[in-house]
Amino acid sequence: MKQVVFTRKWPGNAVALVQEAGLGVVERPDFNAPTENELIAMVRKGPMAIVTTVEDPVTARVIDEADPSLRIVAQAGVGYDNVNVAEAARRGIWTTNTPGVLDEATADLAFALLCSIARRVPQSDRYVREGSWTCWHPSLFLGPELFRATVGIVGFGRIGKAFARRCTGFDMNILYTAKSEKETGIPSARYVPLEELLSESDFVSLHVPLSPSTDRMLNAARLALMKPGALLINTARGRVVDTPALIDALVHGHLGGVALDVTDPEPLPPDHPLLALDSVIVTPHIGSASTKARTRMAETAARNVIAVAGGNRPPNAVQDVEAQ
Ligand code: DGY
Repeated sequence: MKQVVFTRKWPGNAVALVQEAGLGVVERPDFNAPTENELIAMVRKGPMAIVTTVEDPVTARVIDEADPSLRIVAQAGVGYDNVNVAEAARRGIWTTNTPGVLDEATADLAFALLCSIARRVPQSDRYVREGSWTCWHPSLFLGPELFRATVGIVGFGRIGKAFARRCTGFDMNILYTAKSEKETGIPSARYVPLEELLSESDFVSLHVPLSPSTDRMLNAARLALMKPGALLINTARGRVVDTPALIDALVHGHLGGVALDVTDPEPLPPDHPLLALDSVIVTPHIGSASTKARTRMAETAARNVIAVAGGNRPPNAVQDVEAQ
């Protein structure tokens, strides 16, 4: 029987779907991400598929050491920067992802982070818990208002647009930047170059995949273009921002605050300098963590596996494979 390895336990029916298709399942029980060596040991055992996710290092070594029976790396997630796609394709192994099933969940979290950093919700909660709440004061935890503020959205794909739809409910002035101007379906959204977006926006939210062109895209020079006191939200990938430059902009008071669901490094060690700053909120990469999205991510990955097991092109191939 062909085997499918899941590197994590997922909510929903993904395992059942795979089993109903006549495939065997190995579910790795661990909470933490596998190491490269652990992945190598798994793929040497001869599975036809491996269902991976964001922190799993599917490197060239992992691909090269895989038993020839490996046919697909089915990433449960939309980003796949952890997978060496070119090497997989060269070996005739499909890489697939799960677009379209986590957009609303991720946009929800980005918007929640925007509200939280603007109105200093986690900081206020900490203040109450540590026993500092002694009175009402007119200047306690002041922050900017979202209504009719200018928001800059970097990357206007499905998630960027879903975030923009939430911003329309607050009557915000929406600026976006993308590779090119788009038919957005959001009449109030205006395309501007990145530099203009950074210098005009009260809030900037990042929604680009990690690629050579977005790696540390928000460097010191670009952070310096942001309005004094502006807020930054990142639910994309940690490496889109130059972290030392970000710390500098926060320490020197140029930025008002930053809310990060993704960090560089990730996970962020508890003694990292970002965590010493009161103007920073960090969540542990939970953008897609609605039950619905996580269920659909795993089930979409399962459907890609089942297609390949049946000799078909998977519906969510990120690149064509080379004929073997
Ligand atoms: C993705 O899908 O790429 C997310 O970052 C993981 O939920």
